[in-house]
Amino acid sequence: MSTRIPLPYSPKVLKYFRNPKNMGAMSDPTVVSTAGSPACGDMIRLYLKIRSEGEDDVIEDIRFESYGCAANIAAASVLTELVKGKPLRDAWNVTWKRVSDELGGLPAIKYHCSILAVGALKRAIRSYYRDRPKPKWLPEELTVEERQTMEEEAILERIYGLGPNTT
Ligand code: FES
Repeated sequence: MSTRIPLPYSPKVLKYFRNPKNMGAMSDPTVVSTAGSPACGDMIRLYLKIRSEGEDDVIEDIRFESYGCAANIAAASVLTELVKGKPLRDAWNVTWKRVSDELGGLPAIKYHCSILAVGALKRAIRSYYRDRPKPKWLPEELTVEERQTMEEEAILERIYGLGPNTT
């Protein structure tokens, strides 16, 4: 008999896990970002197609690949739905908590799955502006999602000897 205790996932997490939206690679992205590491399985990659529209840079399309758990797949999936069609400045303001709330709440042990997804998005947005004029709304200071993603990658580096992802 299994001794594993099932995690208390919300019906919405299970729904997105079973039927993820916007999953799979994109052939012609404007920017790609990766957070986490494939060594332990906790990794997410985002593909963003961005177009300029007046003053705004808009996420025309977004897709993801996840090598994480059910919560990570659900978080990435709902994140893509939240930011698709939105200006980057609005996408920037999406937090890991917003993603968790959108899923009906994640178990505390799974917060990092949402943090990793949002960390990848923020990394993609910073990467997009690396060679472009930086907008006023983009802070110098790292967000909590970026800091925690980097901390996690540093731990993985110590355990598995892999360098952190910076793409
Ligand atoms: Fe690590 Fe979900 S991505 S436990």
